[in-house]
Amino acid sequence: MIRVLGIETSCDETAASVVALDGTAAPEILSNVVLSQIEEHAAFGGVVPEIAARAHVEALDGIVEAALADSAVSLDEVDAIAATAGPGLVGGLIVGLMTAKAIAAAADKPLIAINHLEGHALTARLTDGLDFPYLLLLVSGGHTQIVAVRGVGDYQRWATTIDDALGEAFDKTAKMLGLPYPGGSNVEKTAVGGDAGRFAFPRPMKGSAQPDFSFSGLKTAVRQAATAIAPLSDQDVADICASFQAAVADALGDRVGRALARFRQEFPGRAKPALVVAGGVAANRTIKATLEALCSEAGFAFVAPPQKLCTDNAAMIAWAGIERLRAGIVDENAADFVPRSRWPLDSVSAPLVGSGRRGAKA
Ligand code: KG4
Ligand code: ZN
Repeated sequence: MIRVLGIETSCDETAASVVALDGTAAPEILSNVVLSQIEEHAAFGGVVPEIAARAHVEALDGIVEAALADSAVSLDEVDAIAATAGPGLVGGLIVGLMTAKAIAAAADKPLIAINHLEGHALTARLTDGLDFPYLLLLVSGGHTQIVAVRGVGDYQRWATTIDDALGEAFDKTAKMLGLPYPGGSNVEKTAVGGDAGRFAFPRPMKGSAQPDFSFSGLKTAVRQAATAIAPLSDQDVADICASFQAAVADALGDRVGRALARFRQEFPGRAKPALVVAGGVAANRTIKATLEALCSEAGFAFVAPPQKLCTDNAAMIAWAGIERLRAGIVDENAADFVPRSRWPLDSVSAPLVGSGRRGAKA
C-alpha cells in the first residue's frame, strides 16, 4: 500500500489530496480538496500573481488539514509528500513547495517535486488505468500541447502553441465581447444561440505539417469583426462566439489529426491507441465532440477524465508521486529543489519563441 499527500499551488487553485494504491487494485482518491481563487481574481479579468500567492499562504495549511481529515489518513501513515514545483506562478510554487518541505522534514517523510504537466499527463492512468504509450492533448489557460506519454518521466512534446494558449484565447475573446471572467465557459454558453457560419474566422496553422498551434491571429480577427459591426447586439455576440468556437474546433481537429497519424506511425504495435484530454478547455462540448469524432474515425479511444481531475487539482500531483515512487524515480535531493516557473516536461524540445504567456498557469 502506497499513500501520498499531494499539494498543488501553481496557479489559482489551492489544493491538497491523498491518493492510495494497494497492490494491483485500482488507485483510490481518498480526498481531493480544491479551493478556487476565481472570485479574488475576477475583478481584474485574470489571475494576479501577488493576490494568488497571498491567498495560497492563507489557505494552504487548512486545505492540507482538510485533505488529511477527509482521507482519514494521518500524516504518519503517508509514505511521501508530493508537491508541484513548476511550471507556474513562482509565488504560489514557493508557498506549496516550502510547505511540503516543512511537512516532509517534520514528519520525516520523503518529498517528491512534481512537474505540474506530469500531473496532467498521468491523470488518465489514475482514472482509467491507461497503459503507456498514449497521446495527451493539454488545453488549459497556460498551455496548449500535444505530448506523447511513453512512460513515467518519459514524455515527448509533439506540438505546442507559438503564441497564446487556447484557454487564454477564449478568455481574451470573452473580455473583448464584454463577457465575464473566466471567459471560456461564458463563450461556450453564449455560443449556444449563435450562428457558427456567420463569420469566416481563420483556422490558424491548418494544413501545416508540424502539429503546432497558434491562436493570436484568430483573436485579432475576432477583434476586427467585433469592431467592424459595433455596437454589438446580443445576437452579434452570440454569433461571434459560435464562429470563434467553430474555428477553434476546426483548427484543433486538424492539428490533433496530424498527431494521431504520427502516433500510428511511431507506435504501430498499439492496437487501440488512446487520446487523452486535460485542462479546463477540455470541458468545451464543441471541442470534445470534434475530438471524439476524430478519434472514432482514426480508431483511437477518446479518454476524457472527469472535469474535476482535468482542471488543476492535487490528486494528480499525489498520483504522479505514487507513479514515481513505484517506478523508483525519486530525486534524492528534492529537499533542495528550487521552484521553476518554466519547466518543460520534455527537456529535449526547444522552447518556441512566444509560446504561452510568461509565468503562465498550466
Ligand atoms: O485547467 P484550467 O482550469 O486552469 C489552468 O489554466 O490551469 O483551465 C482554465 C482555462 C481558462 O482559460 C478557461 O477560460 C478555460 O480553461 N475554460 C474553457 C471552458 N471552461 C474553462 N474554455 C472553453 N470552454 C469551456 N467550457
Ligand atoms: Zn494545469
